[in-house]
Amino acid sequence: MVALRNIVVLTGAGISAESGIDTFRSAGGLWERHRVEDVATPEGFARDPELVQRFYDARRAAVQEVAPNAAHEALARLDAEWGGELLIVTQNVDDLHERAGASRVLHMHGELLSALCPVCERRHRWTGPLVDRPACPTCEAHSLRPDVVWFGEMPYQMDRIYAALRQANLFVSIGTSGAVYPAAGFVRDARDLGARTLELNLDRSEGSHWFHESRQGRAGDLVPHWVSEILGS
Ligand code: APR
Repeated sequence: MVALRNIVVLTGAGISAESGIDTFRSAGGLWERHRVEDVATPEGFARDPELVQRFYDARRAAVQEVAPNAAHEALARLDAEWGGELLIVTQNVDDLHERAGASRVLHMHGELLSALCPVCERRHRWTGPLVDRPACPTCEAHSLRPDVVWFGEMPYQMDRIYAALRQANLFVSIGTSGAVYPAAGFVRDARDLGARTLELNLDRSEGSHWFHESRQGRAGDLVPHWVSEILGS
């Protein structure tokens, strides 16, 4: 057994479900109430920017009303107490990993609390609405958009993610349906590169069969238990 020195954790909407944040594809999820092509594509934004801004304004306000749950806190404990390298790659656009205290978090789909100016390409921490077309603090253009990766756009920091997967001894996927690439392919990349792979998810996902081990249950129960296994306490 190779010594465990390097863990990459991938998280999806399921890790934030117990904090009260809607997932996308569970019953009643966001994609049952909104058409992806209307609110999560550049074409949708060009067609009806106000609809898209209101969709993200509501999610940006909601995320500031909720708190990290036991799963986020357990990953932060691992980050603080384990002697190895831990990288959290999240598909989520909430800031619950950071608010729980995790130190190395990569948001491959962007962040709700960040606004992107397509004119000067600066990013600004943003907690309020964007629907009123506020001016970019840097260049004053009135074109700020959610700093979120839409379908058809390139996910962020892929080079750093693949570099981390090349070093990983263990890849753990938490709370994701395995429906969206490239994240859904990370388990195969990690396996091909020699890592052990573990899935912690409420239900079996589209990718469960790729994992060496897949545990079903709530993240709030499974993640603290798994972290205790790693820390030996
Ligand atoms: N604990 C653990 N897993 C849970 C919980 C929970 N309490 N509740 C739900 N889940 C699981 C569901 O079983 C499902 O497999 O979380 C997963 C959520 O899947 P999705 O809703 O598809 O969310 P995600 O996998 O993060 O979606 C990926 O798709 O729409 C895009 O950009 C969006 O980042 C998102 C990407």
